[in-house]
Amino acid sequence: MALISRGLEGIVAAETRLSDVRGKEGQLVYAGYDINELAGKVTFEEITYLLWHDKLPSKAELDGLKADLRAARSLPQGVIDFLKAAPKTAAPMDVIRTGVSMLGLYDEDPANDGAANLKRSISILAKIPIITAYFHRARQGLELTPIRTDLDEAASFLYLFTGKEPGIETVKTLDIAYVLHADHGFNASTFSARVTISTLTDIYSAITSAIGTLKGPLHGGANEAVIDMLEEIGSLDKVDAWVYDKLAKKEKIMGIGHRVYKVLDPRAPHLKAMAIKLTQELGEPKWIEMSERIAAIMLKEKNLNANVDFYSATVYHSLEIPKDLFTPIFAIARTAGWTGHILEQLKDNRLFRPQSDYVGFPVGKTVVPIAER
Ligand SMILES: CC(C)(COP(=O)(O)OP(=O)(O)OC[C@H]1O[C@@H](n2cnc3c(N)ncnc32)[C@H](O)[C@@H]1OP(=O)(O)O)[C@@H](O)C(=O)NCCC(=O)NCCS
Repeated sequence: MALISRGLEGIVAAETRLSDVRGKEGQLVYAGYDINELAGKVTFEEITYLLWHDKLPSKAELDGLKADLRAARSLPQGVIDFLKAAPKTAAPMDVIRTGVSMLGLYDEDPANDGAANLKRSISILAKIPIITAYFHRARQGLELTPIRTDLDEAASFLYLFTGKEPGIETVKTLDIAYVLHADHGFNASTFSARVTISTLTDIYSAITSAIGTLKGPLHGGANEAVIDMLEEIGSLDKVDAWVYDKLAKKEKIMGIGHRVYKVLDPRAPHLKAMAIKLTQELGEPKWIEMSERIAAIMLKEKNLNANVDFYSATVYHSLEIPKDLFTPIFAIARTAGWTGHILEQLKDNRLFRPQSDYVGFPVGKTVVPIAER
């Protein structure tokens, strides 16, 4: 019988230079830098350059990338029309998935080489925040905010989404969240992107696969589920009963546990610190108090730690971002990693094609005529 690893646990599917998730140590490395060294010191644009070019940019290189991203900050009219016409009740992740797929329709360049795909990576990274923000405006019947090309990525998204000049601290918080979410080894959505591009299809198809994969509650969708959970619990005094009831029913607590990290997810303390600061400023400590209590129970009862989604939910909620945009923000940041992995896969491609263990009927059945079945 074939050796099966359910969920591909422990399987090394390819090499990568982009990032390393060190489960036992609780360490995340981006191209040789510990995430703790990067968070707060470099911007999302610098991380994007690092993931695409295997080195941090010089000032001139960074300015070049920023200029390219800003120049790509527009959407084809057909995509804008779609965003205005999409059902207002549609999930933003579904809209983004469809929007990115549509972008492919407007790309007439037949080249599928590294240079063409780097250009497309810039374009997709610049456009996903606009798709997200514009759908959010359109579904509320608001005017689409005019594009500005004097803002960095995090500030531009906040501006497009709110229509207002974002505060410096809010921009900084979102930028650090982007940095922390930019890449994470062969997580499910990145793996989807790599599997898709390994057929030598186009980059839009690969990013569309990745967005659809990220959406699930076991992956990026967990951050939205965390806020649902906190809202359902309601107050600190109800946490214990709620969590123990879920555990008794063998239900999962969202934002807790990780396939690779067996100790604390190194991104969680950064997000927790931001969540504490923001909730203190807002005078709304209950979200973080409830979160800390849930995390403590889960550590004690199941030896499971909080993951990236656990505290990012409170951070985004404190920034007054609607909960159905939490996962899209994750998607915006992870587009840096997805595109980096796609470019890397194409440099040394081999089709992903695992085998399965057939457990169906033994061969030898004969076809019974349809009238007799
Ligand atoms: C992330 C996740 C999918 C990893 O799952 P996995 O490696 O496939 O682990 P499993 O789902 O097989 O869980 C292993 C054990 O831990 C338990 N467990 C894992 N995560 C749990 C959680 N969040 N709440 C309660 N129990 C959990 C499982 O019930 C199982 O227990 P058992 O052996 O007694 O049956 C899982 O921890 C999870 O579903 N977490 C919640 C969703 C989430 O936050 N996702 C974002 C990840 S960044």
